[in-house]
Amino acid sequence: MDVDVRLADSPRLRLGAFRLRYQVYAVEMGDGRFADHDAGTYSDARDDSARTWVAVLNDGAIAATARVVLRRDGPYADENFQYPELERLTGLSGDELLDSTGVLSRGVVRSDLRASGAMHAIFVALCADARLLGLRVLLVASEPGNLESIRWLERQGFQRYGQDDELDGWTGTHLFLLL
Ligand SMILES: CC(C)(COP(=O)(O)OP(=O)(O)OC[C@H]1O[C@@H](n2cnc3c(N)ncnc32)[C@H](O)[C@@H]1OP(=O)(O)O)[C@@H](O)C(=O)NCCC(=O)NCCS
Repeated sequence: MDVDVRLADSPRLRLGAFRLRYQVYAVEMGDGRFADHDAGTYSDARDDSARTWVAVLNDGAIAATARVVLRRDGPYADENFQYPELERLTGLSGDELLDSTGVLSRGVVRSDLRASGAMHAIFVALCADARLLGLRVLLVASEPGNLESIRWLERQGFQRYGQDDELDGWTGTHLFLLL
Protein backbone atom coordinates (compact mmCIF):
# COMPACT_ATOMS: atom_id res chain seq x y z
CA MET A 1 0.00 0.00 0.00
CA ASP A 2 1.23 3.46 -0.93
CA VAL A 3 1.64 5.69 2.14
CA ASP A 4 3.59 8.85 2.84
CA VAL A 5 5.40 8.35 6.15
CA ARG A 6 6.26 11.54 7.99
CA LEU A 7 6.65 13.13 11.40
CA ALA A 8 3.38 14.59 12.68
CA ASP A 9 4.87 18.07 12.71
CA SER A 10 1.67 20.06 12.22
CA PRO A 11 -1.44 20.49 14.41
CA ARG A 12 -3.50 18.78 11.68
CA LEU A 13 -1.32 15.66 11.60
CA ARG A 14 -1.05 15.48 15.40
CA LEU A 15 -4.84 15.71 15.70
CA GLY A 16 -5.20 13.02 13.05
CA ALA A 17 -2.84 10.74 14.99
CA PHE A 18 -4.66 11.33 18.29
CA ARG A 19 -8.03 10.69 16.62
CA LEU A 20 -6.85 7.42 15.10
CA ARG A 21 -5.58 6.36 18.52
CA TYR A 22 -9.00 7.20 19.97
CA GLN A 23 -10.72 5.02 17.38
CA VAL A 24 -8.47 2.07 18.13
CA TYR A 25 -7.86 2.34 21.88
CA ALA A 26 -11.08 3.86 23.18
CA VAL A 27 -13.67 2.70 20.65
CA GLU A 28 -12.23 -0.65 19.47
CA MET A 29 -10.33 -1.79 22.57
CA GLY A 30 -12.32 -0.04 25.32
CA ASP A 31 -9.26 1.63 26.84
CA GLY A 32 -10.33 5.09 28.01
CA ARG A 33 -7.26 5.88 30.15
CA PHE A 34 -6.03 8.82 28.08
CA ALA A 35 -9.19 9.44 26.06
CA ASP A 36 -10.89 12.80 25.66
CA HIS A 37 -14.37 11.66 24.69
CA ASP A 38 -15.58 15.15 23.77
CA ALA A 39 -12.70 15.79 21.37
CA GLY A 40 -12.47 12.16 20.23
CA THR A 41 -8.72 12.14 20.90
CA TYR A 42 -6.28 9.99 22.89
CA SER A 43 -3.06 11.61 24.13
CA ASP A 44 -0.96 12.11 27.25
CA ALA A 45 1.80 14.35 28.59
CA ARG A 46 4.53 12.30 26.91
CA ASP A 47 3.21 13.44 23.52
CA ASP A 48 4.68 16.88 24.23
CA SER A 49 8.21 15.56 23.66
CA ALA A 50 7.45 12.47 21.56
CA ARG A 51 8.39 12.00 17.93
CA THR A 52 5.01 11.01 16.54
CA TRP A 53 4.93 9.33 13.13
CA VAL A 54 2.02 9.00 10.73
CA ALA A 55 1.43 7.05 7.51
CA VAL A 56 -0.73 9.26 5.29
CA LEU A 57 -2.86 7.92 2.44
CA ASN A 58 -3.32 9.66 -0.91
CA ASP A 59 -6.63 11.16 0.27
CA GLY A 60 -4.97 12.68 3.35
CA ALA A 61 -6.41 10.16 5.82
CA ILE A 62 -4.06 8.60 8.37
CA ALA A 63 -3.60 4.85 8.04
CA ALA A 64 -1.29 4.29 11.02
CA THR A 65 0.66 6.06 13.72
CA ALA A 66 3.32 5.35 16.35
CA ARG A 67 5.58 7.41 18.58
CA VAL A 68 9.09 7.30 20.00
CA VAL A 69 9.96 9.05 23.25
CA LEU A 70 13.65 9.64 23.88
CA ARG A 71 14.40 8.74 27.49
CA ARG A 72 17.04 11.49 27.63
CA ASP A 73 14.21 14.01 27.04
CA GLY A 74 12.88 13.26 30.52
CA PRO A 75 9.73 11.13 30.31
CA TYR A 76 10.22 7.54 31.43
CA ALA A 77 13.29 8.40 33.49
CA ASP A 78 11.43 7.07 36.53
CA GLU A 79 9.96 3.97 34.95
CA ASN A 80 11.22 0.50 35.65
CA PHE A 81 12.60 -1.00 32.47
CA GLN A 82 14.52 -3.70 34.35
CA TYR A 83 17.83 -2.00 33.87
CA PRO A 84 20.18 -4.73 35.14
CA GLU A 85 18.80 -7.15 32.57
CA LEU A 86 18.96 -4.52 29.82
CA GLU A 87 22.50 -3.57 30.75
CA ARG A 88 23.56 -7.18 30.40
CA LEU A 89 21.79 -7.61 27.05
CA THR A 90 22.81 -4.31 25.45
CA GLY A 91 26.30 -3.90 26.88
CA LEU A 92 25.33 -0.32 27.80
CA SER A 93 24.92 1.03 31.30
CA GLY A 94 23.97 4.06 33.36
CA ASP A 95 23.76 7.39 31.53
CA GLU A 96 25.00 5.82 28.30
CA LEU A 97 22.03 3.44 28.28
CA LEU A 98 19.60 6.20 29.20
CA ASP A 99 20.95 8.53 26.48
CA SER A 100 20.77 5.77 23.88
CA THR A 101 17.25 4.54 24.56
CA GLY A 102 13.94 5.37 22.94
CA VAL A 103 10.56 4.01 23.99
CA LEU A 104 8.22 2.96 21.19
CA SER A 105 4.50 3.16 21.97
CA ARG A 106 1.00 4.05 20.78
CA GLY A 107 1.35 2.01 17.59
CA VAL A 108 -2.04 1.65 15.90
CA VAL A 109 -3.27 0.88 12.39
CA ARG A 110 -6.74 1.81 11.14
CA SER A 111 -8.84 -1.33 11.53
CA ASP A 112 -9.59 -1.74 7.80
CA LEU A 113 -5.91 -1.34 6.87
CA ARG A 114 -4.27 -3.94 9.14
CA ALA A 115 -1.62 -6.17 7.59
CA SER A 116 -1.12 -3.72 4.73
CA GLY A 117 2.46 -2.78 5.61
CA ALA A 118 1.57 0.72 6.86
CA MET A 119 3.04 0.11 10.30
CA HIS A 120 6.08 -1.55 8.83
CA ALA A 121 6.69 1.58 6.72
CA ILE A 122 6.48 3.73 9.86
CA PHE A 123 8.81 1.35 11.66
CA VAL A 124 11.49 1.60 8.96
CA ALA A 125 11.35 5.41 9.08
CA LEU A 126 11.39 5.71 12.85
CA CYS A 127 14.34 3.32 13.17
CA ALA A 128 16.36 5.36 10.65
CA ASP A 129 15.45 8.55 12.50
CA ALA A 130 16.34 7.01 15.86
CA ARG A 131 19.78 5.95 14.58
CA LEU A 132 20.41 9.48 13.30
CA LEU A 133 19.53 10.79 16.77
CA GLY A 134 22.13 8.47 18.27
CA LEU A 135 19.75 5.94 19.73
CA ARG A 136 20.92 2.34 19.96
CA VAL A 137 18.06 0.67 21.79
CA LEU A 138 14.28 0.72 21.38
CA LEU A 139 12.07 -0.50 24.22
CA VAL A 140 8.43 -1.44 24.33
CA ALA A 141 6.26 -2.26 27.33
CA SER A 142 3.35 -4.15 25.84
CA GLU A 143 0.20 -5.42 27.46
CA PRO A 144 0.82 -9.15 28.02
CA GLY A 145 -2.46 -10.28 26.51
CA ASN A 146 -1.96 -8.30 23.30
CA LEU A 147 -0.52 -11.16 21.29
CA GLU A 148 -1.18 -9.43 17.95
CA SER A 149 1.08 -6.58 19.02
CA ILE A 150 3.74 -8.76 20.68
CA ARG A 151 3.96 -11.04 17.64
CA TRP A 152 4.26 -8.03 15.33
CA LEU A 153 7.11 -6.68 17.47
CA GLU A 154 8.88 -10.04 17.46
CA ARG A 155 8.59 -10.21 13.65
CA GLN A 156 10.44 -6.87 13.51
CA GLY A 157 13.23 -8.34 15.63
CA PHE A 158 12.22 -7.29 19.15
CA GLN A 159 13.11 -9.76 21.89
CA ARG A 160 11.46 -10.26 25.25
CA TYR A 161 13.73 -9.67 28.22
CA GLY A 162 13.55 -10.29 31.96
CA GLN A 163 10.43 -11.29 33.76
CA ASP A 164 7.11 -9.57 33.33
CA ASP A 165 7.04 -6.64 35.68
CA GLU A 166 4.39 -4.84 37.70
CA LEU A 167 4.02 -1.26 36.43
CA ASP A 168 1.39 0.90 38.10
CA GLY A 169 -0.84 -2.07 38.75
CA TRP A 170 -0.55 -3.83 35.40
CA THR A 171 1.83 -6.45 34.21
CA GLY A 172 3.75 -5.52 31.08
CA THR A 173 5.69 -7.64 28.61
CA HIS A 174 9.02 -5.95 28.01
CA LEU A 175 10.77 -6.14 24.66
CA PHE A 176 13.93 -4.53 23.31
CA LEU A 177 15.55 -4.06 19.93
CA LEU A 178 19.16 -3.15 19.20
CA LEU A 179 19.22 -0.57 16.41
C1 LIG B 1 -0.45 -4.42 16.25
C2 LIG B 1 -0.66 -3.65 14.95
C3 LIG B 1 -0.11 -2.25 15.11
C4 LIG B 1 0.08 -4.40 13.83
O1 LIG B 1 -0.26 -3.77 12.61
P1 LIG B 1 -0.15 -4.50 11.17
O2 LIG B 1 -1.18 -3.87 10.33
O3 LIG B 1 -0.16 -5.98 11.32
O4 LIG B 1 1.33 -4.08 10.75
P2 LIG B 1 1.97 -3.85 9.33
O5 LIG B 1 1.42 -2.63 8.71
O6 LIG B 1 3.45 -3.88 9.57
O7 LIG B 1 1.51 -5.08 8.48
C5 LIG B 1 2.27 -6.28 8.58
C6 LIG B 1 1.67 -7.31 7.63
O8 LIG B 1 1.41 -6.72 6.38
C7 LIG B 1 1.98 -7.49 5.35
N1 LIG B 1 2.45 -6.55 4.33
C8 LIG B 1 1.78 -6.23 3.22
N2 LIG B 1 2.46 -5.35 2.50
C9 LIG B 1 3.60 -5.09 3.17
C10 LIG B 1 4.72 -4.24 2.94
N3 LIG B 1 4.80 -3.48 1.84
N4 LIG B 1 5.71 -4.20 3.87
C11 LIG B 1 5.65 -4.95 4.98
N5 LIG B 1 4.61 -5.76 5.26
C12 LIG B 1 3.59 -5.85 4.35
C13 LIG B 1 3.09 -8.28 5.98
O9 LIG B 1 3.28 -9.48 5.30
C14 LIG B 1 2.59 -8.47 7.38
O10 LIG B 1 1.81 -9.64 7.41
P3 LIG B 1 2.15 -10.79 8.45
O11 LIG B 1 1.93 -10.17 9.80
O12 LIG B 1 1.17 -11.87 8.14
O13 LIG B 1 3.57 -11.15 8.24
C15 LIG B 1 -2.16 -3.63 14.55
O14 LIG B 1 -2.66 -4.93 14.57
C16 LIG B 1 -3.04 -2.77 15.45
O15 LIG B 1 -3.19 -1.58 15.21
N6 LIG B 1 -3.64 -3.40 16.49
C17 LIG B 1 -4.55 -2.70 17.39
C18 LIG B 1 -3.84 -1.75 18.32
C19 LIG B 1 -2.70 -2.37 19.09
O16 LIG B 1 -2.83 -3.44 19.67
N7 LIG B 1 -1.57 -1.69 19.11
C20 LIG B 1 -0.36 -2.12 19.75
C21 LIG B 1 -0.37 -1.89 21.21
S1 LIG B 1 -0.15 -0.24 21.66
